[in-house]
Amino acid sequence: MTLQGVKFTGVGAATPSQCLTNAHLSALVDTSDEWIQSRTGIQERHVAAPEQRLVDLASEAAGAALQMAGLEPTAVDLLILATSTPDDLFGTACLVQTRIGAVNAVAFDLTAACSGFLFALVTAAQYLRTGAYRSALVIGGDILSRWVDWGDRRTCILFGDGAGAMVLQSSDVDQLLSFELRSDGRLNEHLTLAFAGTPQTLGENLAIAQGGFAPIAMNGREVYRFAVTQVPEVIEKALHRAGCTVEEIDWLVLHQANQRILDAVAERLGIPQEKVISNVGQCGNTSAASIPLALAAPIQQGHIQSGDLIATAGFGAGLTWGAALFRWQ
Ligand code: UT7
Repeated sequence: MTLQGVKFTGVGAATPSQCLTNAHLSALVDTSDEWIQSRTGIQERHVAAPEQRLVDLASEAAGAALQMAGLEPTAVDLLILATSTPDDLFGTACLVQTRIGAVNAVAFDLTAACSGFLFALVTAAQYLRTGAYRSALVIGGDILSRWVDWGDRRTCILFGDGAGAMVLQSSDVDQLLSFELRSDGRLNEHLTLAFAGTPQTLGENLAIAQGGFAPIAMNGREVYRFAVTQVPEVIEKALHRAGCTVEEIDWLVLHQANQRILDAVAERLGIPQEKVISNVGQCGNTSAASIPLALAAPIQQGHIQSGDLIATAGFGAGLTWGAALFRWQ
């Protein structure tokens, strides 16, 4: 039997135990619980403690996903960690590989900001479809609290930390029905976490920039406008490719950036609220972690069931965005 399809067999999530509430933020910057909740829907977010590392969160999420899939770590062929906030700029995926004991996997990082998990999921699926690998662990994890300007009320209210993971396995039936990925670097300036080095002279007429990054900078209105116009479009493209209708979607799982964005996208597509998965109130925007983090609880609680059709979409810095249509298990 040729196994040229992909099935999704496990999901897991991890968040730091520390909670940052709107009351905490109101003491840090000129904002209020009322403003934050009415503009974003966010009540609290989890933030990593100083000693907590991405490898800790990513490994916890990965372990839970493997357990649900009933897959031994040694059976993982491919491990992709989507992140913009690595513990090590050379890559964090290999640290996760070692921590969880996925000794036979090839592991690497992939960066596409808040679209990272979706891009990694689609990337992993291609390796399985070609028959190169039989099982993949896709992790999205970010600790954006490291890079937020805690004096900037326009951004510090949005972000939280966490990780989520999914297991993909070869299958005779392909449960990834379609995808549509996009990027446009002309819009890069609207959302950045950019290198900001300090010049250092190494010799006469010889200088380099010593490492460092400027905190997250965002043009919120532009990103909002971009999200509510582009996300419905890629979901419609993915539906078209799969030959499916909006009515067939059981669950809409968007990158959890802002409740208003989730509502606006659902409204544009004509998807009723009860099909929209949201944990933005409790987790904020966790970047690459947000899609698997949003999926984990409703799957573990049995709300999302085997065979359900899930439309998912990510969007964020790059700018990058994309959608995928898949059936759970
Ligand atoms: O993961 C990637 C994607 N990122 C996103 O998806 C973010 C997309 N953008 C957004 O979610 C929204 O644009 C925000 C939540 C960031 C901002 O909401 P908004 O309704 O677009 O507000 P705004 O930027 O238009 O600002 C409205 C007002 C401004 O005051 P003035 O200029 O009208 O006097 C801001 O200075 O609200 C002010 N403001 C705040 N006030 C209280 C901005 N941030 C705050 C704040 N508390 N935290």
